[in-house]
Amino acid sequence: MGPQGIKGILIEVRRGPLPAREAVASVRCQLSAVRYLSPMPKPVAKTLKKSAKKSPNKPVAKTPATRTVLPPSGVSAYTEAEILALARPSIQALKPYVPGRSIEEVREQYGVKRIVKLGSNENPLGTSPKALKAATQALAKSSLYPDGASRALRGDIAAHCGVATENIVVGNGSDEILLNIALAFVKVGEKVVISENTFSEYEFSGRVLGAEIVKVPLRDLRYDLAGFAKTLSQKPKMLFLCNPNNPTGTYFTHAELLALLKKTPRTCLLVVDEAYGDYATAPDYPRCVELMRTYPNLLVARTFSKLYGLAGLRLGYGMGDSGLLRETLRVKTPFNVNLVVQAAASAALTDKAFVKKSLSVNVKGRAQIEAGLKKLGLPYLPTQGNFICFKVPCQAIDLCEDLLERGMIIRALKSFGLPEWCRVTIGTKEQNTFFLKELKSVLS
Ligand SMILES: Cc1ncc(COP(=O)(O)O)c(C=O)c1O
Repeated sequence: MGPQGIKGILIEVRRGPLPAREAVASVRCQLSAVRYLSPMPKPVAKTLKKSAKKSPNKPVAKTPATRTVLPPSGVSAYTEAEILALARPSIQALKPYVPGRSIEEVREQYGVKRIVKLGSNENPLGTSPKALKAATQALAKSSLYPDGASRALRGDIAAHCGVATENIVVGNGSDEILLNIALAFVKVGEKVVISENTFSEYEFSGRVLGAEIVKVPLRDLRYDLAGFAKTLSQKPKMLFLCNPNNPTGTYFTHAELLALLKKTPRTCLLVVDEAYGDYATAPDYPRCVELMRTYPNLLVARTFSKLYGLAGLRLGYGMGDSGLLRETLRVKTPFNVNLVVQAAASAALTDKAFVKKSLSVNVKGRAQIEAGLKKLGLPYLPTQGNFICFKVPCQAIDLCEDLLERGMIIRALKSFGLPEWCRVTIGTKEQNTFFLKELKSVLS
């Protein structure tokens, strides 16, 4: 749901007959979980009963077959049918994003002391020290609104990428960039093409807007760009591609992307998510800035969450044609990028030592984990990211649960459509050693 949608619902509720506290509680529930309702506060229950009597022929919303059942979450004064009638049909099949398990969650559930988190592809070295220092200084200015246009930061990112400031937009994580691109361009009923077994936010961004999702299967566990090209006859509005792909770590080449761009009309936007592109070392990894000069319908999303260690502060950016990106500014919330992260991200770009060390830890850790998996006889995919996807001889969910009990957090890939595969973030030498040791003992 876009920011306007949320505002819309809040206005509806304020106008309604409910006391403010119940109203806010019910909005929260509508946004998160609605299926199982606790008893309503009495005055509210009465009001609803009365209004139901007054209009006995009121249409009752039917639950669509695709409606996702969500777990219970607090008290709501609304019935399921009322919520269904209020909510947008296009969101009924959506499930809230399920993030990897947090350290606190695992500690609480299993009571283990040592917890190693290699489940969310974060930087195992933490945050760039230069970024931390700049963030701490910026905190002192917290009473002021940030620069809503993030001019200085966009200038720094633009210089880093070799483009003009107008070719960069920033957002509260690259998640927001992806959503804002869809919000600006995708109309209800238009087709959005995505891959199977990929990051969930592309499908989310399309579905939330009522687009029709067309899925292209992976080919040999790699993105199939020829398969994407075949969908062009269906006249899609947008193609979302992830490179390297989360969760497989596999990548498509410059030549493959160029071939797809050559076939894609200007009226179809091709969005490449390069969240892990900073780690790619393959010489034929796409050079998107170069391609953008000839193909203005190529848009790129990137993030500071991985290499720069700023996942918790949230910063992503979009790069591409200034006219297209300008449209995304119409849908962004006014101060979506706070002043702490604006300062931190600019400083992170100057922290060459941290970047160098992070990349080197990743290369060494990749070799260490690959060697360990080989020794255990587990197949894995060659990766261009900061994580490795490997196959286990059982349901990955069960194996990951066993690892959690031992304080080791990795990700089972059932939700990505790969129930026998796991994804582990490449960590420090010590973290990788712990992971391989615990993996060996749960397998034996
Ligand atoms: C492929 C991919 N794209 C985008 C994101 C979102 O990143 P951000 O933290 O910038 O929102 C992630 C997060 O893990 C990701 O894996």
